[in-house]
Amino acid sequence: MEFKSKIKTIEWIDNYSRMVDQTVIPYEYKFINITSGEEMFHAIRDMIVRGAPAIGIAGAHGIVLFAQEGADKYTNRDEFVKWLIDKAEYMKTSRPTAVNLMWACQKQIDVIKNSQADIKGIVEELKENAIKLENEDIEINKKIGDYGAEVVPKGATILTHCNAGALATVGYGTALGVVRSAFAKDNTIKVFADETRPRQQGARITTFELAMDGIPVTLITDGMCSYFMKKGMIDMVVVGADRIAANGDTANKIGTYTVAIAAKYHNIPFYIAAPLSTIDISIKTGDEIPIEERSHEEVTHINGKRICAEGINVINPGFDVTPHELIAGIITEKGILRPDYNKSIAEAFSTSKL
Ligand code: MRU
Repeated sequence: MEFKSKIKTIEWIDNYSRMVDQTVIPYEYKFINITSGEEMFHAIRDMIVRGAPAIGIAGAHGIVLFAQEGADKYTNRDEFVKWLIDKAEYMKTSRPTAVNLMWACQKQIDVIKNSQADIKGIVEELKENAIKLENEDIEINKKIGDYGAEVVPKGATILTHCNAGALATVGYGTALGVVRSAFAKDNTIKVFADETRPRQQGARITTFELAMDGIPVTLITDGMCSYFMKKGMIDMVVVGADRIAANGDTANKIGTYTVAIAAKYHNIPFYIAAPLSTIDISIKTGDEIPIEERSHEEVTHINGKRICAEGINVINPGFDVTPHELIAGIITEKGILRPDYNKSIAEAFSTSKL
């Protein structure tokens, strides 16, 4: 039985991009239309759309929007192509850590470079490719979900951190894709969601989307995970990823590393669920992953209200890197990759069979 999720996070419609506005969840569930490339850059940077695969698709949509604008401005094809590739490179810089953004923008750049079409034709090809990437994302997530469901014990309680759900992808989710597929087979499984300070994606978004799909979820604060692990209340951890190095080191939302250490100490399997597009084989280890530094206000304020002394020092890295030794498996659309990751990742990229 397939799990039917009600959520479509981002979608290309005629000549614009429609997305769920994630800055207002859980108070409101509303859609916002993005109609220019520059608007898309800001929607990604300001996290109206967020989550590695979702911002990849947003980037691809943003390049179509720029292409539409360029088509109104240029008559010379070479000038149009040069301008558009610059805009596509610019779109890649809207956030630094999640490699899916660079991956999807590069897919669009490849379309531009390989096209034989005129200006209008290039716009159409980019649109088609964006829609293709969109549809593939859901299919990939379902595969990840189905492979992951095989390692979920009956009646398990699964801990997750941040939001790697339908709202972090086009739909279905990666870590929460595993949850959805497992729930379709066994509706006694449950989720524990870390709050995920400072932006509270776990509290605001994960609990919201699981509740919407009728999957039991319990919210805990970030510091509570080891307490519940010691009590034997967590059977496995599944989180998403923003960038995975060739050796399996994995960047994900800040706080993930702490969860992984606690899981190792308590002998609880810690899994990453991510598409191959999150793996950056051009880098050897996690030390090379750029970590986004976000606004200090995310830490000093909650809902616009200051929660600490004025003028206090703050550091706010958005992500951390979990060393590969702490990871039991990386659940991908090609199956579950196991250590030695240098080998299993290289194999996943070189063949369609694991
Ligand atoms: O800063 P965010 O909310 O974009 O961070 C999201 C995460 O860290 C997710 O876990 C990751 O992107 C995987 S989403 C399938």
